[in-house]
Order: sequence, then C-alpha cells, then structure tokens
Amino acid sequence: MDLYETIKTRRSIRAYKKDPVEDDKLDRIINAARLAPTAANRQPFSLVIVKNDQVKHKLKDAYSPEWFYTAPVIICACASPQDAWKRNDGKGYVDVDVAIAMDHLILAASAEGLGTCWIAAFKPNVVREVLNIPDNLEPLISKTTRGNGERNQVSALQNSMPDIALLFSMKMCEFPYTSSTSFE
Ligand SMILES: Cc1cc2nc3c(=O)[nH]c(=O)nc-3n(C[C@H](O)[C@H](O)[C@H](O)COP(=O)(O)O)c2cc1C
Repeated sequence: MDLYETIKTRRSIRAYKKDPVEDDKLDRIINAARLAPTAANRQPFSLVIVKNDQVKHKLKDAYSPEWFYTAPVIICACASPQDAWKRNDGKGYVDVDVAIAMDHLILAASAEGLGTCWIAAFKPNVVREVLNIPDNLEPLISKTTRGNGERNQVSALQNSMPDIALLFSMKMCEFPYTSSTSFE
C-alpha cells in the first residue's frame, strides 16, 4: 500500500480476528521497527513477541480488555534507557526512539493488512513478571496485532535481527524466534 494511503487508513483496532498472523508478515513488521532511526543510532530497545495463549492470558492482569489478551500477537516494546543517547543537559531520548520504532511497526502492520493498538495503560510490574523482563529494560508500550478483515478498519549499523530478537528467547515466550526472511 502507498505510504500516504497507509497513514490515512491506519486506525487503532480493538476487535481482533483469531487467525494467526503469518510469520513472514511478522518478520517484516519487526524489521520495519529495526530500521527506524534512533538518536546516535543507539537502538535502545528490545521487543518481546508473545504468541503463546497461556502467556497472553497472564497479561490480562496487566491490561484487562479481552481484545487485548486474546489478540493473535502481543508485542511488548521495552526501553533500555541506559543505552539511549543523552543530550548535554542530560535529557534522554529513549522514549522518542521507541515511539518512532513503534510507529514504523504499526504503519508496516497496516500496510500488511494487520491492525494494531498501542497500549500504554498497562501495569508494567505485571508485564515485567509475566514476560521475565530483566531489570535494565522497561516495558514501555504493548501493541496488539491481528489478522485483517474485521471491523474498525477504516547503518551505518542497524541492530541485526538476532539482537533485536534478544528477548524472544526469554522464558515463556515462543522460542527461539527464528526469522524465515533474510533482511538487508
Ligand atoms: C502512546 C499511546 C498510548 C496509547 N494507549 C492506549 C491504551 O492504553 N489503550 C487504548 O485502547 N488505546 C491506546 N492508544 C490509542 C489511542 O487511543 C488512539 O491512537 C487515538 O485515540 C487515535 O485513534 P486512532 O489510532 O484510531 O487514529 C494509545 C495511543 C498512543 C499513541
């Protein structure tokens, strides 16, 4: 889909089909996040991809709407503030970096015919525990993705996929995450 058309038609989706998201689509939208610009190219974030029904159900305690924890995929973006670039006056840019990456991700998802919804109103301590997120990372944003067709639709050096997929190998998520697509 044309970029402007994607930007125009993207909406936050809060009703998801049960169909699984195809691996190649998931690979491409994660890669879109990986390619996002970050301050000083620090790429201070990791993503946790949750497809396992039991794990998703546990995330209900973090954010209770059913459409959230029953979505085919939940992606948790985790910020790494200590890795982020800071301005001379100490202002850190991690939230900006993560937001840009997630915007890449949601636009890529829309272009793939998938719906997403940012979720900031979750309980980070529950997410940390359920997903076994280490202390140096901060769960910042969750997003859900779905199959298409339901209502509401209106580097210099980049991290390699394995680096971005760091957290995928964590306990209880679906692992190891293996990309079926090779990216440049
Ligand atoms: C940083 C951020 C946090 C958000 N948090 C939530 C949330 O916790 N729950 C929710 O249902 N929607 C959340 N949203 C979605 C917004 O409500 C939505 O983007 C906004 O109402 C505009 O609608 P649209 O995305 O369909 O254009 C969030 C959006 C952003 C950008």
